[in-house]
Amino acid sequence: MKIIKTQVGIIGAGPAGLTLAHWLKKQGISSVIIENRSRAYIEARVRAGLLEQNTVDILDSLGLADRLKKEGQEHHGVYLNFDGERIRVPFGELTGGRNITIYGQQEVVKDLTDAWFAGGGELFFEATATKINDFETDHPTIHFEYQGENAILECDFVAACDGFHGLGRKTMPKESYNEFTVTYPFSWLGILAHVAPSSEELIYAYHERGFALSSQRSEKVSRLYVQCDNDDTVENWSDEKIWDELSIRLGTPGWELKRGPIFEKSITPMRSYFIDNMQCGRLFLAGDAAHIVPPTGGKGLNLAVADVKHLVDGLTEFYQKGSLNALDSYSKTALKRIWRAQDFSNFMTTLFHKQEEHGSFTYQLQKAKFDYIKCSEAYATTIAENYVGLPFEAFE
Ligand code: PHB
Repeated sequence: MKIIKTQVGIIGAGPAGLTLAHWLKKQGISSVIIENRSRAYIEARVRAGLLEQNTVDILDSLGLADRLKKEGQEHHGVYLNFDGERIRVPFGELTGGRNITIYGQQEVVKDLTDAWFAGGGELFFEATATKINDFETDHPTIHFEYQGENAILECDFVAACDGFHGLGRKTMPKESYNEFTVTYPFSWLGILAHVAPSSEELIYAYHERGFALSSQRSEKVSRLYVQCDNDDTVENWSDEKIWDELSIRLGTPGWELKRGPIFEKSITPMRSYFIDNMQCGRLFLAGDAAHIVPPTGGKGLNLAVADVKHLVDGLTEFYQKGSLNALDSYSKTALKRIWRAQDFSNFMTTLFHKQEEHGSFTYQLQKAKFDYIKCSEAYATTIAENYVGLPFEAFE
């Protein structure tokens, strides 16, 4: 049987697992990653693409932001539409110069995977974790299947960065956490299209026909979303119907939506999920393994990277000073930001989606919020600072 030894065994080569591996390496801590899927699959998996300032700064400090800096698009504000009226929330003035960068998650994954292999890192694709043992001791093991054989990763700590359906959370004893779930009664139909973005910055729109979002991937590729039903299928949405809906919902006088060939269509359910404990002994959860936010606001990847920061802080303290104190407060520290992001994602979701009949009490509250953003710099500031991401010091 293949037996591998490392200091930190990482399950999952998404943004959390890969960022963790790189950052640990910088701290002189060894790690090995095992990933259930193939390299082609994870590099093609279409996800959101909004990077907070913190995330960009972290990737930059790890030497992983060269392509991101060249090809990513830094945005200094965001447009908000309500019933055909458009306003802009500027980030610079309201947040002391913090911004966001639009760069697809799968591009981040490609860059981090390439750099990991270039630096001689170990990462096993199509390696299925089957059991995490002895995580209540100081010598946990990850059992996995690789190329038809059983293998064991022996480590000091296990980082489960293996997503919502991963083994990590399933391994945590049920009584060690409380679980919180909200399922929203709508989904997103997302498209990628070969056409220049119709707006230089993102547009989030409430319309009586439902939510729409205009985003982008490059100067030639647009990413757009429309609110659809939970039981909807992409077959119900012809290209023409999608462009027509986007054009109506995002529309505002004097603005026109550019159309082009659609090359990707998929439906994303909207839910909020999290557990209030992300550690059991020497097993730590990070990213989607511990929390899901609805995509309105683009917090998912950024939360995963923030978890990794706290985990690296704790592991560094352990390997440098032998103390488990920072690791033992990992959950508590990470959860402060997770709660904040859950609230902001829920706020953006409920502000811009059609929830009840147009004109209902709920609608009037949504409209009251939009009108308030227009007249109050304080309110616009809370949106801007949450949107670009609060600095780490804010939660200390
Ligand atoms: C995206 O570009 O995919 C994106 C941007 C902002 C969001 C969600 C998704 O809030």
